[in-house]
Amino acid sequence: SDALGIAVVGCGTVGGGVVEALLRHRDRLAQRAGRPLQLRHIVVRDRHKPREPFVPRELLTDSLAPVLQDAAVQVVVELIGGTTAAREVVLSSLAAGKHVVTANKALLAEAGPDIFEAARRAERTVCFEAAVAGGVPIIRALGESLAANQITAIQGILNGTSNYILTAMAERGLPYAQALEEAQAHGYAEADPSLDVDGSDAAHKLAILAQIAFGVIARPQDITRQGIDQLHPMDIRFAQELGYTIKLLAEAWTRSDPQHPDGPRGVALHVAPVLLRHTDLLAQVRGAYNAIAVYGDIVGETLYQGPGAGRGPTTSSVLADLIDLAVGRAQRTFAAARLWSRADRGFVLDPP
Ligand code: NDP
Ligand code: HSE
Repeated sequence: SDALGIAVVGCGTVGGGVVEALLRHRDRLAQRAGRPLQLRHIVVRDRHKPREPFVPRELLTDSLAPVLQDAAVQVVVELIGGTTAAREVVLSSLAAGKHVVTANKALLAEAGPDIFEAARRAERTVCFEAAVAGGVPIIRALGESLAANQITAIQGILNGTSNYILTAMAERGLPYAQALEEAQAHGYAEADPSLDVDGSDAAHKLAILAQIAFGVIARPQDITRQGIDQLHPMDIRFAQELGYTIKLLAEAWTRSDPQHPDGPRGVALHVAPVLLRHTDLLAQVRGAYNAIAVYGDIVGETLYQGPGAGRGPTTSSVLADLIDLAVGRAQRTFAAARLWSRADRGFVLDPP
């Protein structure tokens, strides 16, 4: 058959959304992809656990082996999270000749070069639009639409959970713990929510954006970060009274080098809560929305905004990657990532 055979690994907030959409929007997706997107396996940790009613039980398995052995599976969608089992899933899928779609920013930030080297060797593509800013097409924007530019700076709200908490505390006066519980109930938070609130998740996403925009391999542990977990409700109140909003910003700045006008000399990366004037566009990004301002030397400033976490937005980006793979466009979309395995283009990271 000419169908694109798909295995979804992980059936939680995001995996469940992808499974549901593949079944519910089957006809639309087949039309957009030019061929059917056929769901063949769903891999979970515990196949006896109760599942949402749309999950076809006959597709459930708790082992990756049937996926790797199934020649009709062309794409493995990794949606389990974490960096240990997920790394195994991605590397063994590539070794078995499957393309990979993942939303796992922690994995890409920590092991991106190894994964892209494995993909290059296997002549397969790793797609990851969902890994940064949920439903906002920022990977495509940086990798494709702004391809002619030298990117000079990126400033973004990249963690939906933190932005949700900050908004709930500022606008509804909610205590921190209750706001975090709400974010978890909406499915925005990581399995370990300390990654959200201590700035690590935003740092992972910033590392991915920096790799695409500047060609630097930024090890997440080298990105200085401060989260929102140390903020006091009084900080938020005083900021408001003075006309400011506190936002968790991830920022990348380049230093230009007159000797090398085509490339920056250094890239400084950091994540921290900052005070923004109420009138600043980034100050107006509310709830689990994300926004990213990108400065390019030809285009000037561009701004991307949208839902940054949760089932629907993340599913939307995963499906876009599957459609691109089906039509043979993904190689081009993720071309910048192919540089990662040899991304030592001589740029240096500024010390913190
Ligand atoms: P969940 O915790 O909701 O779901 C995880 C799923 O993975 C569960 O179905 C679980 O199985 C399965 N799983 C866990 N470990 C294994 C394993 N070793 N083998 C097989 N299956 C396993 O996570 P999310 O859906 O929220 O997140 C998934 C990924 O997407 C993460 O990388 C996350 O960072 C990323 N992401 C999440 C977003 C969000 O808004 N939630 C947004 C963007 C990216 P079982 O059901 O049996 O327990
Ligand atoms: N936990 C992440 C967030 C999910 O809150 O932004 C989206 O990557």
